[in-house]
Amino acid sequence: MNKTVDGTVSETEEREGVSATPPFGDRELVLVSNREPYVHERDDDDISVARPAGGLTSALDPMMASTGGTWVAWGSGDGDEEMSDENGCVRVPPESPSYELKRVALSEEQVTNYYYGYSNQVLWPLCHSDIAKMTPKPEFWRHYREANERFADAIRERVDPSEAVIWFQDYHFALAPRLIRESAPDAFCMQFWHIPWPSWDVFRSCPEHDELLDGLLANDLLGFHTDRYCRNFLDCASKALGADVNRETGVIRYDGRTVRVESFPLGIDAVERRRLAGSAEADEAWESLRDAYPLGAEQLALGVDRLDYTKGIEQRLTALEQLWEERPEWRGRLTYVQKASESRSRIDDYQRVQATVTGEIERINERFGTDAWRPIVYIDDRLSMAELAALYREADVGLVSSLRDGMNLVAKEFVASQVDDPGVLVLSELVGAHEELGEAAMTVHPNDAEAFADGIERALTMDRPERSNRMTQLQAEVEENDIEAWKNDVLRHAGEVLNGKRRADRDGA
Ligand code: F6P
Repeated sequence: MNKTVDGTVSETEEREGVSATPPFGDRELVLVSNREPYVHERDDDDISVARPAGGLTSALDPMMASTGGTWVAWGSGDGDEEMSDENGCVRVPPESPSYELKRVALSEEQVTNYYYGYSNQVLWPLCHSDIAKMTPKPEFWRHYREANERFADAIRERVDPSEAVIWFQDYHFALAPRLIRESAPDAFCMQFWHIPWPSWDVFRSCPEHDELLDGLLANDLLGFHTDRYCRNFLDCASKALGADVNRETGVIRYDGRTVRVESFPLGIDAVERRRLAGSAEADEAWESLRDAYPLGAEQLALGVDRLDYTKGIEQRLTALEQLWEERPEWRGRLTYVQKASESRSRIDDYQRVQATVTGEIERINERFGTDAWRPIVYIDDRLSMAELAALYREADVGLVSSLRDGMNLVAKEFVASQVDDPGVLVLSELVGAHEELGEAAMTVHPNDAEAFADGIERALTMDRPERSNRMTQLQAEVEENDIEAWKNDVLRHAGEVLNGKRRADRDGA
């Protein structure tokens, strides 16, 4: 068999500003996420390695490459097992190995019930406050518990948790911190929750609310994107478990321990996005995109989304239809590009979004399209980073209309890529990013179609000084609070909490 490692991963090498060593002394850093940073895929007799498209894994990989340690993740690739040793481990990055990736193999039944089930049919709709879409089933919960146990075992197989800093990412691991804590009271656990945290009124509709909160409260530090999500979490901890909550400091006393809850708004690699958008590669990519798709209209609006019901894509299409219907002067002059990525397709609600979005686009194109103009260009092909950068750069308007969104990094990517004639960000007031970008963006409510259509028109007709002024503010925000700042902020806080804990242990507190 011919095993190859292709060159698709070399982007990491070019990145600058890798974090300084985390302030954890001799404790090993163990990162835990559902998605893995490198996936080995089989193609006939060849196995190649790819980086999944998700921004999070590619953002954290340079940090792990510089600090070393272990990354524990679900081994989802069909070539993963063969490319890992008998403990499920492989050293990565492939081009210059510096940390250990430990893959957790999950059976089909586990993936169905833990990932597609509890994570994405209970916790995802719950945390996005869409409780009608929640489908709690006993087997979802059972497998979620078991998967969390498997991940906790995998951590313990690699390290002694008392000598590690374990950093859980996201909602797939609400129970694992408690499982680690039970076996190693001295462990240092932290977690970042990448999706919203809802109000207690919403959260209580989940039958397992106590267990989830109890699991998360076994962390030492718990991070969310915004202060609002922190406040919601503090409220839930107090109301569900009677935890002693200090709303000023974000400190919770529960079960004889202290947990710090803080907001850390996630950012992007803004410098790299800006560089790429201004590169010759992006120029070439734009030429080839123009050959492949009808992108010749006077103005372009752009949406970039995973096909998820939280993204408000249908609401965006309604607003655009309204614009073309009531202001026919925009027909022939504005093209909307919808870049879409398929996601979680085994779940009915996701299949429905895909069908509705493509159906609506077809209908709108039939209604208004002419031989010379296609109102909506739908792109579901995988685009290279340069192609995406070119689309962002060329767009006059970026449309982000989520009904709920933990942060929404697309808004930040659009902003960082505006290296030319500045465009306008039209942003839903319901996304986490609105707390940072709301002032200089054009704010809309995704469910108010008329006002949304007005907002799009205002963005399309805004004069250059106003566009420049707004974009300068947005870019300053996005560049200052980039992914490096996020990582450094989280790690610095973790270091402080860890040192505080050490001092307390020393003083016998
Ligand atoms: O927003 C939460 C998140 O887990 C992101 O980190 C990720 O990009 C996205 O959802 C996609 O998730 P999945 O791994 O289910 O494709």
